[in-house]
Amino acid sequence: MKEIFEKGLFKGEIKFDEPLSAHTSLRIGGPVDIMVFPEDPVSLKNVLAAAHRESIPVHVIGGGTNLLAGDGRVGGIAVSLRAFSNIENTRETTEEHVVLYAGAGVPLAALVNFSRRNGYSGIEALSGIPGYLGGAVYMNAGSFGTEIKDVIVSVAVMNMQGDISIMDRDRIAFSYRSSNLPEGLLILSANIRLKKDRPEDVDRRANEFLERKRASQPGGLSAGCVFKNPGADSAGRLIDAAGCKGMRVGAVEVSAVHANYFINKGGATARDFIELMDAVRERVRDNSGIELEPEIKFIDT
Ligand code: EPU
Repeated sequence: MKEIFEKGLFKGEIKFDEPLSAHTSLRIGGPVDIMVFPEDPVSLKNVLAAAHRESIPVHVIGGGTNLLAGDGRVGGIAVSLRAFSNIENTRETTEEHVVLYAGAGVPLAALVNFSRRNGYSGIEALSGIPGYLGGAVYMNAGSFGTEIKDVIVSVAVMNMQGDISIMDRDRIAFSYRSSNLPEGLLILSANIRLKKDRPEDVDRRANEFLERKRASQPGGLSAGCVFKNPGADSAGRLIDAAGCKGMRVGAVEVSAVHANYFINKGGATARDFIELMDAVRERVRDNSGIELEPEIKFIDT
């Protein structure tokens, strides 16, 4: 790995012993051996290929918003694609539709704002979802009946050997908060199709969704919804009904606003978070017989 950095085969920032807490929305996570912020696909390829050759584990961080990283040292290399942040119109754009190319490191909020400014309709309901496009595609992020899969045309991916391929939408199986994109593939970019509309109408709808979200979901340091919704029911409703609002382990608390949000009240650890997840799961199991499944992803917990 060292020679990649020393021989000019990598363009971008490199950090050693970088605390993952600085890159997760929960502000939890121990230091990772190496963290890289490649500026182009070749630099990314060189790092991945070296990691593959040397059997170094690779962790893709995305926007760090649906992620719980362990408190101890995280072995291997963490990759942030925050520099892959272009949004461009493509030649597939027609009178009625626009097809946008967007890099994996584009914050979803920036993509929604771009669409609002230009009057591109289709992702208004995703307003207020944090994180990057790459993670949103990988997990099929959704809100108020819209999922990112609804607008995907194709996704560019790189495997751990650094080979790039384009996957058309119909080659990817998306389902509720998941896709069949293997963990060993990095999403580089996605092309998305949106409908041309009046900017003021797109803007108004996006604001309405944002308001609904602000009214029902808490602020503060969280990882979004902790558990997946079981079938048609809401995990938040079930956790609330089991009397868990306000439950606390260390500095992690079940939000009083929406019970599927666990808030870091300051100085929380991954251990606290997991203990609280276990306690909540047990109470929900006792109360309703339903076994909740985590929605969040874990690194070395
Ligand atoms: N509810 C309660 N108590 C709570 C939370 C919710 O009684 O503490 C009730 C609400 O009153 C409502 C019902 O449960 O009657 C559903 O609540 P809500 O509309 O907030 O939706 P949700 O099912 O809890 C899902 C997604 C959210 C998404 C919203 C809006 C999951 C796990 N959650 O929440 O997604 O923003 O719908 O579309 O899929 C996420 O995935 O991280 C996430 C936040």
